Amino acid sequence: MTYRTGQVVDVTAGEVAHGGWCVARPDDGPVIFVRHALPGERVLARITDVTTRLARAEAIEILAASPDRVEPPCPHARPGRCGGCDWQHADLAAQRSLKAAVIRQQLRRLAGLDTEVTVEPLPGDADGEPDAGLGWRTRVQFAVREDGVAGLRAHRSHEVIDIGRCLIAHPAITELGLTGRRWEGVASVEALVATGSGERAVIISGKTKRGGGEIPVSAIGADSVLRRSGPGLTPLRGRPYLSQHAAGRDWRVGAGAFWQVHPGAADALAGAVTAWLDPQPGDVVLDLYCGTGLFAGVLAPAVGPGGTVIGVEADQAAVRDARHNLREWPWARVHRGDVAALLRPEGARVALPAARLVVADPPRSGLAREIVEYLGAPENGAVRFAYVSCDPATLARDIGLLTARGWALSGLRAFDAFPMTHHVECVASLGRLRAGLGLGGALSRDVVAKTGDAGQQALVFQDAQRLGAGLPGVPVLLAEGGDGRRRHPGREGALGDLPAQHRGQAHVGSGVRFVAYRHSRTVLDWQYCQSQRFDTSRD
Ligand SMILES: C[S@@+](CC[C@H](N)C(=O)[O-])C[C@H]1O[C@@H](n2cnc3c(N)ncnc32)[C@H](O)[C@@H]1O
Repeated sequence: MTYRTGQVVDVTAGEVAHGGWCVARPDDGPVIFVRHALPGERVLARITDVTTRLARAEAIEILAASPDRVEPPCPHARPGRCGGCDWQHADLAAQRSLKAAVIRQQLRRLAGLDTEVTVEPLPGDADGEPDAGLGWRTRVQFAVREDGVAGLRAHRSHEVIDIGRCLIAHPAITELGLTGRRWEGVASVEALVATGSGERAVIISGKTKRGGGEIPVSAIGADSVLRRSGPGLTPLRGRPYLSQHAAGRDWRVGAGAFWQVHPGAADALAGAVTAWLDPQPGDVVLDLYCGTGLFAGVLAPAVGPGGTVIGVEADQAAVRDARHNLREWPWARVHRGDVAALLRPEGARVALPAARLVVADPPRSGLAREIVEYLGAPENGAVRFAYVSCDPATLARDIGLLTARGWALSGLRAFDAFPMTHHVECVASLGRLRAGLGLGGALSRDVVAKTGDAGQQALVFQDAQRLGAGLPGVPVLLAEGGDGRRRHPGREGALGDLPAQHRGQAHVGSGVRFVAYRHSRTVLDWQYCQSQRFDTSRD
């Protein structure tokens, strides 16, 4: 059966899919990606779009509702209306579970890892707090219609919806009253607020006359009003930057530069990155895609004058701010340019010192291939990598590439930095396996058995303590008990004895056996495992 746009079908929504969809798999037709539904719900869905392989639809009537369903607080979060929020019809805890499911799914599909994931609420959004999940968005871009109305776009459409008030916008943005004006001749109007200082800026893009013209610049109640002209911003009034507050200090951030939009996100991410990298005096750290220097700025004081922090950022204005924000620590410097070009061995214009610690916070497209190659080369010296990501799919893809190159996923924290939407922010902690463990000859002597069924492969090592000692925080399993004399210790003793809650944790005990299963893609290069001849009958 094929579908046509506008057709209404009765379907049961299945698992969640990246992007704010649930997947329905009717017996008699192609897969349908349904918006405004929740897993398990039976809905009437209107087909919005058909391709050769799938259809997209939106649930227009709920025939059997999920217990997680709530009334969306915004009247525009409905089929055919605003495309900004994907999950307003789920309660906040369910939204976080859906995001966790997507991250798990992507890691399984693209990196071959089974990982427990919890999405943590940021301050102000814990369940039960008043207005949890609303009023957090500190940057909103309103598109402007032909008639001058500033609104938000419908889902997968250029249509601009007159929303009046956006409920996820920070109240300080709503107070500017931008949607109550007419913006003739303007393409978009963007508002941002720095919640620490209370400063606000408005950026107008497209044709406009300077103050006194059609746009009454003096009547806009923001500290700064700027005009976007090409890649740059021209102040019409006030300063071109805001003072943000995070990680216990102030940051100068240009109105056009990147800054996390949830007021609690910069703090949470800086904390997670620092906790994993654990910078020590004298360390050398790379902060790739450093923006205005948030991570470099929390790492620089920790490495001290004996250390070095190098930020890399392409945007000229962000580089200026980062240099300003890091001026207190002369051992922290910022290189302006494309990360990929810098790390390409033949194209490097600056000599990079061997960095023990690396953090990267790329755009949605994920890590440039050059970063993967750089991290994959042990001679570059990186042993810990904090990967900050706003896209679970590219994150999982890159983790898969790194685990095939001697890295292990040690942990993953996920933050609900965009409540009501399908977006989520992750910090993946990766550790480099000690040379020789994943690829070297020492391994084959240590492996005494390979056991398990498909998907439950286990490798059992002779000397767990020695192997484990070099792997702080690496997700390996230690089997407690089992004297190693059994024919298949991984299956009979080690694997079975291991309590589920210890899976994925690093335990280094004395004289116990070390078992990696499923995580063996992480602990060892899977290709390597496959290519070895393990003698499964040997004790
Ligand atoms: C997600 S932001 C992260 C900024 C910073 N870590 C923070 O938390 O504020 C990504 C940054 O990467 C920069 N960027 C994008 N592509 C780049 C590239 N190819 N090379 C260097 N920087 C790039 C953007 O200008 C942006 O500042």
